[in-house]
Amino acid sequence: MPSYTHDVLIIGSGAAGLSLALRLPANLRVAVVSKGPLSEGSTLYAQGGISAVLDQRDSLNAHVADTLDAGGGLCNEAAVRFTVEHGPANINWLLELGVPFTRESDASQPSRLHLTREGGHSHRRVVHAADATGRAIEDALLESTQRAPNIELFEQHIAVDLITTAKLGLPENRCVGAYVLDREHEEVLTFSARFVVLATGGASKVYLYTSNPDTASGDGIAMAWRAGCEVANMEFMQFHPTCLYHPQAKSFLISEAVRGEGGQLLHADGTRFMHQFDARGELAPRDIVARAIDHEMKRLGADCVYLDISHRSADFITRHFPMIYERCLEYGFDMTQQPLPVVPAAHYTCGGVVTDLHGATSIPGLYAVGEVAYTGLHGANRMASNSLLECLVFSQAAAQHISHLSDQAQASYTIPPWDDSRVTDSDENVVVAHNWDELRRFMWDYVGIVRTTKRLQRAKRRIDLLKAEIHEYYSNFHITNDLIELRNLVMVAEIIVLCALSRRESRGLHYTLDHPHTDPALDGIPTVIQSPFTAG
Ligand code: FAD
Ligand code: SIN
Repeated sequence: MPSYTHDVLIIGSGAAGLSLALRLPANLRVAVVSKGPLSEGSTLYAQGGISAVLDQRDSLNAHVADTLDAGGGLCNEAAVRFTVEHGPANINWLLELGVPFTRESDASQPSRLHLTREGGHSHRRVVHAADATGRAIEDALLESTQRAPNIELFEQHIAVDLITTAKLGLPENRCVGAYVLDREHEEVLTFSARFVVLATGGASKVYLYTSNPDTASGDGIAMAWRAGCEVANMEFMQFHPTCLYHPQAKSFLISEAVRGEGGQLLHADGTRFMHQFDARGELAPRDIVARAIDHEMKRLGADCVYLDISHRSADFITRHFPMIYERCLEYGFDMTQQPLPVVPAAHYTCGGVVTDLHGATSIPGLYAVGEVAYTGLHGANRMASNSLLECLVFSQAAAQHISHLSDQAQASYTIPPWDDSRVTDSDENVVVAHNWDELRRFMWDYVGIVRTTKRLQRAKRRIDLLKAEIHEYYSNFHITNDLIELRNLVMVAEIIVLCALSRRESRGLHYTLDHPHTDPALDGIPTVIQSPFTAG
């Protein structure tokens, strides 16, 4: 089987992976592998923007305080401060790359960036490219990456597992590469590298309804777990309050910036309800708004609630939200004239692979950046638009760390090729499709916005059954993209349930009817779980 050797292997080509690739020194040979088309991933669909302190009336301290508040007493303040302080410089870096952020329309301030507002932010501080910020960023990053002579890009290549020296039977553990399935040629390749970076995004695909693209199957978290890394805070899966309620829309997101610019949440009869739940109304942090909507839908037996911005001028709406406006029109809703039907859907993975402020994991040579990582920034609930910021800040930090360490001499290892001599082609692909569906459905029903211990235990029993079935399937048949993702998703589902069962309180995104109050004794204590695969 073909094999590749690079200085740095980056798994994932979203904001985190591509920024990191661009920030590594040009003398390092870098491979970026991506399981689908290069641009596909959550980054491409980001709408609202990136938070950073750019207005003189705003302050770093205010951004820190808002993030800590949204995080429900569980953020790591050092990580929050580190991220916030590096925000403005990272926006400048994107501007230098040519990202066309929206400017003020006010003729007296034409060069100033327009700042929008989202839930939890006490100031306007969200930089954006209309309502398609992610696409603008991904396009700019990809264009620069494609021009860099030291970076090799491999699309349609899905990483299957990390290669560590512990797995090779050597005494000191280090990550030295990954096995990667070339989807087109259906062969598993060996990528060896001195440094490996997980930039694989989140795991929201574990739920039936999600704003995320299909790539969000938690691969990086599962691979790191199998390699022996610690994973933390996976009970904090964020549900975005407002996805379009329409059978064909596949949970199309209606940006929080719509509420930031005055959008109101309504019942079918036109009454507002958010102020009964939080004084900040529609701009309360996301966990509060999503839970309030869930509560109201259940109380009234309603299929959805409504988001209305039609009181603003049509010119304002089409200028600020051109993409959302067009998509809603395709589904038969004119948001300049009528409220939009909306429901919550799984959106963001606040937990992940534990890293330090350099993005380094507990395994030497292995880094995790972006949504796959747990840096301590988000705590029990991520504040809007802090995610893209985290991708940029931590990819810069990891690039600097790798660049310092890359001068040191390192041993090279003989890595055995992937062994598929004992497996055959499956004649039962229906099993994979069925298990995918079953897993995502019971995760939605039992491990969603409101939990109970009984529901979590019910989910755990089903996960155990699926795990055994999938393991048997994986051991007997050639691997495919769907099988790799399913194996990872069931592992991530198990981690979510284990974390949720172990947190006997309600806090941020984790709300359980059996322990409905926050326990002050647990302030500042993340749920860190040790991988059972530690020995490699
Ligand atoms: P992604 O952009 O998801 O990229 C992951 C990459 O890893 C992809 O290239 C994928 O193909 C690849 N990959 C995954 N597994 C493998 C594997 N096994 N092998 C090879 N490749 C693999 N955040 C904000 O801050 N502001 C916003 O306005 C905002 N809006 C959002 C709107 C939507 C609809 C969504 C879904 C998310 C939004 N978020 C927003 C969240 C934010 O977009 C993501 O958290 C962020 O883009 C994650 O970037 P990433 O690089 O970590 O992962
Ligand atoms: C949105 O535009 O509402 C998404 C913002 C985010 O997830 O940070």
